[in-house]
Amino acid sequence: MADAALNTGRPLLRVDGPLKVTGGAKYAAEYDAPDLVHGVIVPSSIARGRIVSVDTRAAQAFPGVLKIFTHENRPWGAHFSVFFKDPMGPPGKPFRPLLDGQVHFSGQPVALIVAESFEAARDAAALVRVSYHTEAHKTDLEKEAVHAYTPPKTRLGVPPTPKPTGDADRAFASSPVKVEATYRTSPENHHPMELFASTVVWGADKTITVYDKTQSPKSVQIYLKAAFLLFGRRVRVVSPYVGGAFGLGLRPQQSVFLAMLAAKALKRSVRVVIPRDQMYTLGYRANAIQTVSLGADEDGHLHALKQEAIAATSQYEDAQDPMLFFSGLLYGCENVKLAYKLAKLDTISPCDMRAPGAATGMFALESAMDELAYATGRDPLDLRLENYIDYDQMEHRKMSSKALRDCYTQGADKFGWSARTAAPRSMRDGRDLIGWGMATGIWDAALSPLPARATVTLTADNRLEVTTSVTDIGTGTYTILSQLAADAMQFPMDRVTTRLGDSSLPYNPTQGGSWTASTAGSAVQAACEKLKDKLLKHSHRTDQASLTSDPSVEFVTLLNVAGKARMEATATITNLPFGKKFTSATHSAVFVEVRIDEELGAIRVTRVVSAIAAGRILNPLTAQSQIRGAAIMAIGKALHEDAASDHNLGRCMAHSFADYHIPSNADVFDLEVIFVKELDTEVSPIGTKGLGEIGSVAVAPAIANAVFHATGYRVRELPITIDRLLPGLPL
Ligand code: MOS
Repeated sequence: MADAALNTGRPLLRVDGPLKVTGGAKYAAEYDAPDLVHGVIVPSSIARGRIVSVDTRAAQAFPGVLKIFTHENRPWGAHFSVFFKDPMGPPGKPFRPLLDGQVHFSGQPVALIVAESFEAARDAAALVRVSYHTEAHKTDLEKEAVHAYTPPKTRLGVPPTPKPTGDADRAFASSPVKVEATYRTSPENHHPMELFASTVVWGADKTITVYDKTQSPKSVQIYLKAAFLLFGRRVRVVSPYVGGAFGLGLRPQQSVFLAMLAAKALKRSVRVVIPRDQMYTLGYRANAIQTVSLGADEDGHLHALKQEAIAATSQYEDAQDPMLFFSGLLYGCENVKLAYKLAKLDTISPCDMRAPGAATGMFALESAMDELAYATGRDPLDLRLENYIDYDQMEHRKMSSKALRDCYTQGADKFGWSARTAAPRSMRDGRDLIGWGMATGIWDAALSPLPARATVTLTADNRLEVTTSVTDIGTGTYTILSQLAADAMQFPMDRVTTRLGDSSLPYNPTQGGSWTASTAGSAVQAACEKLKDKLLKHSHRTDQASLTSDPSVEFVTLLNVAGKARMEATATITNLPFGKKFTSATHSAVFVEVRIDEELGAIRVTRVVSAIAAGRILNPLTAQSQIRGAAIMAIGKALHEDAASDHNLGRCMAHSFADYHIPSNADVFDLEVIFVKELDTEVSPIGTKGLGEIGSVAVAPAIANAVFHATGYRVRELPITIDRLLPGLPL
């Protein structure tokens, strides 16, 4: 009998790799249709006010232009905003493009030009003249922070900020050592390689096929049906390949809304692509101002932990993420007080972005912990070990697993942390100041908040097919689901096919939250078990162990005996929110080396060691890529990415990668990944805890801490650009 774990746990290459590198994998904007027309968005140039008039005459006369949609002539869809709700949307009224003449943010679509070619639509868009009644806008979080409020309603899937424990104010006041500081993080934009795009194919037979860039074809399908009252039609949303998505694709985007609006009105196929320059006004990681207060003994033992965050949101929604949710989980402390607040700005709603909230909240907390290490003369790693806890002190529950201690020791060992000299500016190599910093990371480990299904089908030609509607956004979902099915059915990998990213497949809501491997994987495994039972029943056998020869062959024989060409089984995985006995999280310890040219102030992150505890690792190769990619994103957060607004204009100053900097190959050096052994039987039936986000959380604070170690100068604002570091350099 074949080894039960022949494929899982092995570093197998991506099953979708060949298609991707040969151009065989098609993306949303690559699908064609007969008589396809192209829509281009005209964005608003003001951040707040009202449209007085839209002069479309010159654009309308442009050769190839078919139709120009504005708020004045747009077709009616559903009336009430409740029909535009999507499962991942925050409380509030979702933005509805072209609804009326109100302008809520700069870059808001004010017209859609539809033309026979993309070029015609683009050129005509430049001829549209919009006049506005402009109102004063507010885009500066520094100014609006005084109006911060606690969000009255929480968002589905986002755990509420824990209630205070003990008396943190008093404990802080009486602590012998106090660290209190305010940290700022800039907004960041999403820039996956693939632009947001939709190709809506209008079928004559009441079928509408939507090729969309999304993390959730199911959400988009439900949204489109409700928003456009398409209940009499078959709407199928297809996204088999997604060229990167880090949270912006959790919600239906303007591209799919506008493409459907035009397609329905014109009764023909329409494509809308959001060009790179418009990605700067399509959602952002909320910028935040956070104050952390740590009170401790002289030896660094914590007595008080306070953290307040004020994060940006739009005027129309209370965007939320778990910014402070994890802050009470890492270190033993009897007095914890967390306050998560929002401040309204005249911007589009902030959106999720890899490790939403945690990456921001942990930057502040882990910077403050580093400050406490220096204030108490403790090594930053020793300080964390001093305050280590292995239970959830906020909810008084056990952790389902927590191998963070192993992350600390194995990461430190690999990095060579013990060779670090404590004093800032004490390590140097020629002109380079060397800094070694570390930080702790934590992220949710859970199943999807919505139930998910998967189907496994055995066919008489001795093949196995796995289907579920969720997308693979580059995470390796195709590969790990094939691995799991192959092992569960004891099939060779090359006879397993996984189909994903299609709303017509079994319901599985959203790729995100680091829950997809656990959710979809558990559903696939359960479906395989069901299928095996079904097959054995047909052969009047009860025991799987009675299979002696090659099971894959024997299953097909059973299929033939039963006189069937195919047999399938579907399983549903649910995540009940109540009655949980455990708190679950993934953890990381990240160690970083920076080299800073003392004369130029240029910072290079020359080494990163990420030690990760995330339960069972299904595929070390795709898993490692997740952690490396996340680390690179975090280098961007720490050193480069700043979607700063020009507050006079109320809009993001960047329009291209010339002025919005992200890490390039030259900015990326050694990225080492360690997966520590961790057994978890609570998070998911398959033992996984999720990997997409944890790789990102601790890297930015570790870099910031390394910059302090290198220079002795604490930059409390991300990104750490040269201008912010300058006061710390002896020029
Ligand atoms: Mo993730 S921010 O759930 O794509």
